[in-house]
Amino acid sequence: MFRHSMRTLLVSLCALTAASQAATAVVLAVPADQARTTSTPARALRTQTLSDLAAAMKGEAYANASYSLFAVQADGRTWSSGGKLVINKAGQAVGALFRSTAQTELNEHLREAAALAGTVGTNAANLRQSINGESYEHQVMYRGFAEQARKDGDLKAADLFTEIAADEGRHRNAYRTALTVLTTGRGAIPAPPMAKTVPVPAGLPKVKAARTKANLDTAMHGEALANAKYLLYAAHARQTGNAALARLFEGTAGVELHEHFAGEAVLAGLVRTTKTNLRTAITGERGEVSTVYPGFAKRATAVGDSAAARYFRNTAADEATHAAAFQQALNQLR
Ligand SMILES: [Fe+2]
Ligand SMILES: [Fe+2]
Ligand SMILES: [Fe+2]
Ligand SMILES: [Fe+2]
Repeated sequence: MFRHSMRTLLVSLCALTAASQAATAVVLAVPADQARTTSTPARALRTQTLSDLAAAMKGEAYANASYSLFAVQADGRTWSSGGKLVINKAGQAVGALFRSTAQTELNEHLREAAALAGTVGTNAANLRQSINGESYEHQVMYRGFAEQARKDGDLKAADLFTEIAADEGRHRNAYRTALTVLTTGRGAIPAPPMAKTVPVPAGLPKVKAARTKANLDTAMHGEALANAKYLLYAAHARQTGNAALARLFEGTAGVELHEHFAGEAVLAGLVRTTKTNLRTAITGERGEVSTVYPGFAKRATAVGDSAAARYFRNTAADEATHAAAFQQALNQLR
C-alpha cells in the first residue's frame, strides 16, 4: 500500500461511508443472491476493522493499477535508432513479474478483504453503492479538484478533472437506468461505455502545485478502487444470470482504469524508468509488511475480529514475498 496523506485518508473515508453502511446491512441480512457466492462473517465486524479493510482494498486496488502500468513500461518494445525493433528480455521478465503481482493484489488480497467486509451485495445494492460513488465524484470531488487546479494554474489537470467529472455523471446515469430496470422489470440495461485507452509513458509530473498532486493521488486511489469494485460487481451479476449488467460494470471498470486512472497517472508522473518503478513498488510493499498490515492485524485482534486479523497477517506475509521478488528483479537489472 502506498502512503496516503491525512487529507487523502479523510476523502477516502467520506467516499467509503456508504460502502461501510452497505457492508453492515449485508452482514445483518444476507441477500438470497449473495448467499451462494461470498463467505459471510459470523457477526458484524467492528467499525474500525471495516474501515481498515476498506483502506486495505484501496491500497490493493492502487497496487494493482500501478503494477499494470509498470508492467507495460517494463516490457514495452522500443525501436533502435536504426529502425530495428528491440525486445528487452530482462524487461519482459520484470513485466511478467509486475503483471502476476498485480493479479495477486486484485484477485487474492482485494477479493478476500471484500468478502470479509461484505462489499458485494445484491445487484440492486451494488448499483446503489455505485450510484452514490459516481454522484460524489461527479458533483463534489472532481468539480472541487478542477476548481482548485485552475486556481493553482494547473490548467491541464483542471481540464482533465472537468472531463472526468462529466464521465462520472454519465456512469451515474447509466447505473440509475440499470437500477430502474432491476426494480421495475421494464426497459433495458444500458450498453457499456467503451474505454479509450490512454498510454502512460515514463515521465515526470506535469503539474506544479502540491495541492494538485495530492488531489491526483486521491483521484487515482478512487479510480483504482472503482475499477476493482466494478469487476467484483460484474462477477456477481454474471453469477446471478444478469449478463447485461455484468457488461455494464465491466465496461465502466475499463473506463475507470484505462482512461481515468491512466490519464491522471500521466499528469502525476507515476510511471518512470523500470528501476525507479521497482524501487517505488519495493517501498510500498515494505510499508505494508512493516507498518500497515501489522497495525491492522493488531487492532483486529484486540477487538476479537479474528478472521480479519488472520487475513491481515497472511497478506503481510504475501507482501514480504512481493518485496523480495521486486528486490531480486532490481538486483538483476543492475
Ligand atoms: Fe497486496
Ligand atoms: Fe465512474
Ligand atoms: Fe472514474
Ligand atoms: Fe503486494
